[in-house]
Amino acid sequence: MKILLRNGFILTENGLEKKDILIDGQFIKNIDKNIVIDSQTTLYDFTDKFIIPGGIDVHTHFDIDVGSKSSVDNFYSGGIAALAGGTTTIIDHPGFGPQNCKLDFQINKYLKLAQDCPIDYSFHGVLQSTSENLEVEMSQLKENGISSFKLYMTYSYMMSDEDILKVFTIAKKLDVVICVHAENHAMIEHLKSSFKERNLTTPIYHSKSRPDYTESEAVNRLLLLAECTHFEKLYFVHISCKKSLEILNSFKKKGKNFFIETCPQYLLLSEDEFLKEDGYKFILSPPLRKKEDNISIKKYLNDELIDVIATDHCSFSLNDKKLGKENFLNCPNGIPGVEERIPLMFTEFLKGNITSKVFLNSCCINPAKIFGLYPQKGTLKIGSDADITVLSVEDFNFDSTKSKANYSVFKNHKSLVKVDTVFIRGTLLLKNEAFFNENHKGNFLKRN
Ligand code: URP
Ligand code: ZN
Ligand code: ZN
Repeated sequence: MKILLRNGFILTENGLEKKDILIDGQFIKNIDKNIVIDSQTTLYDFTDKFIIPGGIDVHTHFDIDVGSKSSVDNFYSGGIAALAGGTTTIIDHPGFGPQNCKLDFQINKYLKLAQDCPIDYSFHGVLQSTSENLEVEMSQLKENGISSFKLYMTYSYMMSDEDILKVFTIAKKLDVVICVHAENHAMIEHLKSSFKERNLTTPIYHSKSRPDYTESEAVNRLLLLAECTHFEKLYFVHISCKKSLEILNSFKKKGKNFFIETCPQYLLLSEDEFLKEDGYKFILSPPLRKKEDNISIKKYLNDELIDVIATDHCSFSLNDKKLGKENFLNCPNGIPGVEERIPLMFTEFLKGNITSKVFLNSCCINPAKIFGLYPQKGTLKIGSDADITVLSVEDFNFDSTKSKANYSVFKNHKSLVKVDTVFIRGTLLLKNEAFFNENHKGNFLKRN
């Protein structure tokens, strides 16, 4: 089946151009001015609308059990929320599996959980220990299309420096990406206990127990651990503050290679949110920072030091979040965001806060390139999958959400665009807020 998208402003590596896009089956067949079509081709007129590659969110946590609580979004509701927000591919970070489980245990579990995901998906492997078989297990997963793994420097399966050196050594050999949650566990535990002893437990103390130096210390150490093992595919998830970015920038200037991710919340929200009546809604780790950190995120996005904007979508019900109202230690960490990222970041472009190139690279192209999906995904090119999001210019707010979380931390942030239409591999899935084929099944993507 052929579809022509007529006359939109399309965003490609060449910038914004008024052109038509011809879709043939699952792929983009042609991009040009005034494409001539036959009577069998379905026509959509997108005059005055922006056409971008379907968004790629490489940091979601759907269907995650964090021990005390489970997230409200599974792969179905999370996928619908993503679709409503113009994202057509996710790479999910699974939660931890049972102690001593093999590396493929969680992947096999999540492959089943994601069967009804309406958009395309993949997973990062989750590293919990450095067993003797680690290299073999990582290599087997790589053969099966899982070419990135995540380790944590805090939480229950945190890794020591020795573990991290082992992982980096193997990862270099296998040529895979290692994503790291960089926070200094010991410092955070120390600060948490000291606030608890003094009954200082309102949401702002979540932020005070994880000050910026707890992140930047871990970032600095990781950079040196990577240098020590000559590892160049280290990917920093959810970088939140100026201190970390300045260190990362100094290593980039020395010629070191690595990747940096941030999230819309670290650009648009500050720790002032924790002081509000509903401050518990915003509890996530790393926490929201100061306004000067928001400014630094913007600067390093525009300097192209930051590669990726993902969401860290990890949604809990308001009832569960409310457990943190009096005591942040009881609050499940994480916020929703998969639905808001593309409209909000495109709004940042329209407001002149980031360039169209930064938007395209950080939300679509770089995630695809870094995680082995390019040029199948992340770009509007002839031969690429026809994953396409159309944005109309109209005011939009996030008063109601598709995410089962049922609230948005961005409710005070007006979007200047609305997701108008979404195609995944040439199939029309969303138009004018109506879902077509809600039972559409996304593909599991084997990555290079
Ligand atoms: O608070 C957060 N970010 N929860 C999700 C898990 C993680 O650390 O990424
Ligand atoms: Zn994390
Ligand atoms: Zn996360």
